[in-house]
Amino acid sequence: MKAQASHSSFCYNDEIMLLLAIETSCDETAISVVKRIRGKNVRFEVLSHRVLSQIDLHRQYGGVFPALAKREHAKAITQLIAEALGEAEVLIERTNTYHIPNGDRKKLETLLEKEPEMMSAMKVLFEGIQKPAIDAIAVTEGPGLEPALWVGINAALALNTVWDIPIYPVNHMEGHIIAALLSQNDTFFELSDFELPACALLISGGHTEIAHIPRLRSYKVIGKTKDDAVGEAFDKVARMLGLPYPGGPEISRLAEQARKESLVVREDLRLPRPMLHSKDLLFSFSGLKTSVLTKVKKEGELDDKVKKMLALEFENSVTDVLVTKVKQAIYETGAKSLIIGGGVSANTHIRFALKQLADSEGFSLFIPNRNLSTDNALMIASTGLLHIANDEKPRVKLAAKGSWSVGDC
Ligand code: KG4
Ligand code: ZN
Repeated sequence: MKAQASHSSFCYNDEIMLLLAIETSCDETAISVVKRIRGKNVRFEVLSHRVLSQIDLHRQYGGVFPALAKREHAKAITQLIAEALGEAEVLIERTNTYHIPNGDRKKLETLLEKEPEMMSAMKVLFEGIQKPAIDAIAVTEGPGLEPALWVGINAALALNTVWDIPIYPVNHMEGHIIAALLSQNDTFFELSDFELPACALLISGGHTEIAHIPRLRSYKVIGKTKDDAVGEAFDKVARMLGLPYPGGPEISRLAEQARKESLVVREDLRLPRPMLHSKDLLFSFSGLKTSVLTKVKKEGELDDKVKKMLALEFENSVTDVLVTKVKQAIYETGAKSLIIGGGVSANTHIRFALKQLADSEGFSLFIPNRNLSTDNALMIASTGLLHIANDEKPRVKLAAKGSWSVGDC
């Protein structure tokens, strides 16, 4: 069965052409503007694609600090929206003096009462430019850091209040799935046709899940971690090795060097493969992390060679576990396609190992373009367009859903 994002071409949603997407679930403030191409549904041109990373600020804490993430999103978001509108050529400055009507101003003040800096920036925006030709907004409603999510949600609500633009809330993890399914042609992106049933392996800083996808837009979580997420384990192990945040790319770099040098891991630095034989689809990475810590403490001063060995062994352990569980999930569900999403899907070794599994088991593999692996707003835009294509209704009753499962979206 091939999945097609098809629907009646006469629905209300068919009028939607320009969509603004907002993503603030973690440490990236991301805004995109896309132009839907009529006809086949999830097909669009990218008019603006902006990602402002806070990584340099969080590095000093060795991880994402939620209050700081919220503050930085609130500081940056209005300007980023204005820049994206400008880049999409829908920003028209007012030449006359304009004041937000009283009713809207009061609603805006109530909405942004706890965000004075964002409120004054938004007021300047609304008084300085005309309502842009944006037909819909897609915003991440969860999962993620709630204080950070609220900034994106409140920005979307502010645009809705003053410009009356409908909002399509998006689950961030569904966004990672849809990003993996995008294929890029000369000037546009579109949703690839893929065979169902499918499985998705979601591996990020906050999630490690396997979802069964019997139909488009239908997700059932059939496997997950009992403790740490895989990206979190990468970040924590990196920290133990004295490497900066985010640790995933750092560990990956050291492990690749070790492979190039054909380094053989010392016997006493070998690590376990947690839950490898548990015969279920559960993961656990906290014991693996503790094993690394024990070795690091025993070693005392870590030289470069030991760091490389530990990085290699850790990456191999995680990869072995992921491959084994995915193989089992594919077998249990009869999946014809595997979709990989989330920041850890940028990992070269994991990508390679899953490609080998796909080739030997005969299923199709969908991996996001590397620049769409980590958080961005195109993943939210394309998912919003999919909801629109499905004729789903917009919503203004929104709330940050910190642990919103993809199974409930
Ligand atoms: O999806 P994402 O950008 O944000 C969350 O929603 O969590 O994922 C971030 C995570 C971090 O833990 C980071 O270390 C990990 O993705 N990551 C990687 C790589 N690039 C990013 N992990 C392993 N190898 C990589 N190359
Ligand atoms: Zn993410």
